[in-house]
Order: sequence, then structure tokens, then C-alpha cells
Amino acid sequence: MNDKIKIKKMQEAADILSLILQEVAATAQEGVNLLELEELADTLCTQYKVKPAFKKYQGYPSSVCLGLNDIVVHGIPFDYELVDGDILSIDMGVKHRGVFSDCAVTVMIGDVSPEARKFVETTKQAVLNAIAQAKPGNTIGDIGNAIQTTVEKEGYSPVEEMVGHGIGYELHEMPYIPGIGKKGEGEKLYKGQTIAIEAIINQGSREIFISAEDGWTSFTKDGMLSALFEHTVVVDDNPRILTKW
Ligand code: MF3
Ligand code: CO
Repeated sequence: MNDKIKIKKMQEAADILSLILQEVAATAQEGVNLLELEELADTLCTQYKVKPAFKKYQGYPSSVCLGLNDIVVHGIPFDYELVDGDILSIDMGVKHRGVFSDCAVTVMIGDVSPEARKFVETTKQAVLNAIAQAKPGNTIGDIGNAIQTTVEKEGYSPVEEMVGHGIGYELHEMPYIPGIGKKGEGEKLYKGQTIAIEAIINQGSREIFISAEDGWTSFTKDGMLSALFEHTVVVDDNPRILTKW
């Protein structure tokens, strides 16, 4: 199948995913339970006739990944009511007409501390700076470098174990796209390539551990915050962002 058709379908998938993610994000308020957010995401997938891409992916049990405070990625929704000052990453993927889209935001609940706010805003800026590098002829290293330099300037740490990825007919395709890198190094990007660019950033040390209990949820080792922003993007001279926050 040709690339134009694939990208057109990916835009449709991304449009639906964006609507769902925006609604889930708007619902994430003080007093709301994480399990309600999972249920909402699921209901919206049914309503829009898309498949939640993460559910049953390598055994992952839920439709969304929710990263409360020190949770890095792959947080399985659990019984918890959001409180003022929490930060929460909401990561979701959908499959629609044979193609995938993947997107994540970190929301701030009520009055978060100025430090947490600056941290979340910097992580968002990191993914936007990385997307600006998604041009033909640039490399994977240029993307990683944009994320790394943006956050390290403020004393934050990219998580090396967790990466962005190619996306299209599969949720995860080659290449891996780390949040660290050297300018000009690594594989070259090409026009029309479809990728999920993710900034996965810890406020303190880069070290993480994975829950022994569920085998999925990853936490910062030092207990400090972690934030995540992700977009599905088409490589072009003007990089094209398919998803919307
Ligand atoms: N956006 C994340 C990723 O691309 C979430 C995947 S969750 C999983 O890795 F369950 F699908 F693994
Ligand atoms: Co992803």
C-alpha cells in the first residue's frame, strides 16, 4: 500500500486518538479515580470504533497508561483518587483501519508546585524541540540530542531505557528513538517516515525500576517526578504532527 494512503489513515487514527486523549485529560481532575479514566478511555474507543492499541499488547492489561507522579511509563490504572498537586501522564494508542497512532500528555491537577510546573513545561518543550528535528536527512541522534539538551539544561534526566519508535502498520516499528543522542549520529530520517517521538523525563536521577508486582509499571528510583509527552509525527521539511494535545 502506498505511503500517502497510510499517512491519510494515520491522520484519521490520530484525529480520533486526540479527541479521546483530550477528553480523558480534561476529566483528570481532583477527586477523579484513575479507574474512571481507564473506563472513559475504553468507552470512547467503543464510541469512535477504534481499538485501544495497548490493551493485550504483550499482555498489558489496560487501554491507557497512567503515570502518577513518580511513575515513569506503563503505569497500569489503579484505585486512586487524584489530589491537588499531582501530575499524571496519560499515554494512549489506537488502531484504526489497520494503522496505529500513539500520543501522551502530562496533566497537572489543581495547584502544582512551581518546580513541578516548570518540570512538566520543560518536558513538553523537549518533545516539541525534538519534533522540529524530524526532517529528511536529519538523524535519530538529532532528535535525541534535542530532547537531551532541552532537559539537561534545567537539571532533568532523559530516561535511557524507554524510547520513542517508528509507528504505522504496527504500534512499535523500527527505529528506536532515544531521548539522548549526538547531533548527526544514527540512522537518517526520510521523507514520509512515520514515527512516535517521546520525551520521557525524570526530574531527578535517570534511574528507574519496574514493579515486581505487575511487571509493567516503572518508577523513578529516587521517588522524584517523571513526565511524558508524545506525538505521532510524519518526517518532512516541515515536520507534520498528526496527533493534537
Ligand atoms: N506509548 C508507549 C510506548 O510506545 C506505551 C506502550 S504501552 C504497551 O511504548 F502496553 F503497549 F506496551
Ligand atoms: Co509510544
